[in-house]
Amino acid sequence: MCEHLQRKEQLHPLLRQRWSPRSFDPTLPLSPQQIELLFEAARWAPSSYNEQPWRYWYAARGESGFTDLLDLLVPANHAWAYRASLLILSAAQTHFKHNGKPNKHAWYDTGQANFALTVQAAAMGLHVHQMGGFSSERACQRLQLPPQVVPVVMIAVGYKGDPQILDVELRKLETPQKTRLPLEAIVTHWQGEKSL
Ligand SMILES: Cc1cc2nc3c(=O)[nH]c(=O)nc-3n(C[C@H](O)[C@H](O)[C@H](O)COP(=O)(O)O)c2cc1C
Repeated sequence: MCEHLQRKEQLHPLLRQRWSPRSFDPTLPLSPQQIELLFEAARWAPSSYNEQPWRYWYAARGESGFTDLLDLLVPANHAWAYRASLLILSAAQTHFKHNGKPNKHAWYDTGQANFALTVQAAAMGLHVHQMGGFSSERACQRLQLPPQVVPVVMIAVGYKGDPQILDVELRKLETPQKTRLPLEAIVTHWQGEKSL
């Protein structure tokens, strides 16, 4: 077995098995308790000055708000995300509460909270698919986001269904075997000047 595959095998199953599918099962709703637990996970993420700049707007499939969230997506995402059990807009509060200054870590912290939500979802047998393909402008208008709250990413959550529900083109993408950069490309063991 290749070295990098061996290393992957040693990862925690929640990290090893996580991926972003498109074939969500539209017949399986989430309970309010499940939804709350996902946000509870986000709530406990670390953040600069413990500012907790993440903000969420969500709707479950079947609720009227779901259509509003779905309509924010670009067509390529709308094409599959309509089957998700839950759609979330994650957003970031851009300025610190205590002094009104810009919080340059707000996006980073929101990403961390989103990943905590993602791992919690995996632990609950759910899948998450984040999407940058949506209209921030329309999100601000439609959801009436407060000033200094900027949309970051949309998140689809649900149970993975049968890939056959996808059309042919999307089905081709429906695989967890995504490539990754090798460790050497992303990690430098810094050993002083001789590393250069
Ligand atoms: C910030 C962000 C934006 C993304 N935008 C989209 C998107 O608009 N549409 C989509 O299908 N996937 C989107 N993705 C999912 C990525 O394509 C996916 O995470 C990446 O290909 C790695 O695959 P994996 O999550 O299955 O490991 C996005 C992911 C992130 C983190």
